[in-house]
Amino acid sequence: MKSSSKLAVVIMAAGKGTRLKSSRPKVLHEIGGKPLLGHVIAAASKIVAPGDIYAVVGHQAERVKTAMASTGINFVDQTEQHGTGHAVQCAGKAIADYENILVLSGDAPLVRPETIDRLWQVHQAEKAAMTLTSAEPEQPTGYGRVLHKTPESKEVVAIVEQKMLTPEQLSLREVNMGMYAFQTAPLLKHLGKLTADNPHGELYLTDMAHVLSAAGERVVAFKTDEPNELLGANTIAEMMALDADLRTKTANRLMASGVTIFRPDTCVIDADVEVAPDTVIEPYVQLLGKTRIGADCLIRSYTVIESCTLGDGVIVQQSCVLTDSTVADGATIGPMAHLRPDSEIGEGAHVGNFVETKKAKLGKGVKVGHLTYLGNAEVGEKTNIGAGVITCNYDGVHKHNTKIGKNVFVGSDSTLVAPVNVEDGAYIGAGSCITKDVPPESLAVARSHQTIKEGWVAIRRAKQAEKR
Ligand code: UD1
Ligand code: CA
Repeated sequence: MKSSSKLAVVIMAAGKGTRLKSSRPKVLHEIGGKPLLGHVIAAASKIVAPGDIYAVVGHQAERVKTAMASTGINFVDQTEQHGTGHAVQCAGKAIADYENILVLSGDAPLVRPETIDRLWQVHQAEKAAMTLTSAEPEQPTGYGRVLHKTPESKEVVAIVEQKMLTPEQLSLREVNMGMYAFQTAPLLKHLGKLTADNPHGELYLTDMAHVLSAAGERVVAFKTDEPNELLGANTIAEMMALDADLRTKTANRLMASGVTIFRPDTCVIDADVEVAPDTVIEPYVQLLGKTRIGADCLIRSYTVIESCTLGDGVIVQQSCVLTDSTVADGATIGPMAHLRPDSEIGEGAHVGNFVETKKAKLGKGVKVGHLTYLGNAEVGEKTNIGAGVITCNYDGVHKHNTKIGKNVFVGSDSTLVAPVNVEDGAYIGAGSCITKDVPPESLAVARSHQTIKEGWVAIRRAKQAEKR
């Protein structure tokens, strides 16, 4: 969908978002697991290259720039925020060499690339100096209203903000959705004519409709039939409504591609999550960040998976927490397992209940069934880790590695004090505290010997009877 290099996109994102009552900049609030501005940039990047996108930032600008740096877009500073018209003035130098610009709001995250592209097509076909996006929502209150030359005309003479509406204009139903296309030359020629003669004392970009049309330039409206897409979020409650909407769309996208999601309304699935067909997701599952799940998997209730990659045929039982990890085909996890960052679970491996892993690489077919901690550890193929095994990876200052070979049997309740190596085929007796390397195919037992005192109970009982 990429358009000519003569087109730039300006995203207005400098506002404070006073109505959110939050210390975080408005455009960094998240819906669907991604900041509002991140959604808008993603949509705009389908129309022009990131190098042709300019975000106008002001309130906590550095924080916004840092959060969005990886997108590769440009930033323009609007140090003091004197309105949407002022925001575009601040971008004046940056856009001067482009023939046309599209202006988007950083707080309208549901906008689809298809809709932006339609605005762009209409703008070109109409040869307009300004094309604004309008709609007729059920509830027009609060929006700027669009005033046409005549009721039948496409051409617009002004946008009137809510607070400036005359009693007769209150009945106008067509509203300005806040997304525009401009020819750069007439825009820059007349942009300086904006005045702050309004209740907010701001320079309104919307006033360009009147300024341009009064200068004899053509201003038209592109009426969208999808006004919900351009809804802005001005309060947390409005934002959470957009979040619910977006997550419903994500769940529907996955279901349409062959994923079964029971009670999708209870699941929290971020916008960028991918799941292959025939995977089943039970109620109350969270799939977050850039999570990728293969085909034929089963993700059971109350599991939270964040930024993980799962192969095909993986089973994740109830109440597991998986973060920044990978799980290969056919592995089974949980219930109640915790894969912390940099865990790599091999093909067909089993990680059972109350097992925690961190920076741990488990080979093909490894079994670690119960109550275990594996940190900074590597475990070779087909090794069996008994119940209650612990890698003691931390000496209070540094982390150390534990390397366990293939086909090893680690008896239950053993502790492995790192750094330590257990070579292929070795056996470790239950209850051992292993502090030295274990050679291949050998048995290591490191526990105190058991003593038996036969008849001890009868003797003790007799002694107690004497005392009475
Ligand atoms: C704006 C329109 C209104 C339209 C509505 C659609 C104006 C004056 N009004 O109102 O006609 O119906 O959108 O949602 O444009 N911003 C800056 N710098 C500033 C001020 C704002 O970058 O100095 C950014 C904000 O961060 C925001 C966007 O511009 O992302 C829109 O500003 P906002 O204050 O939300 O405008 P609305 O009141 O929604
Ligand atoms: Ca807004």
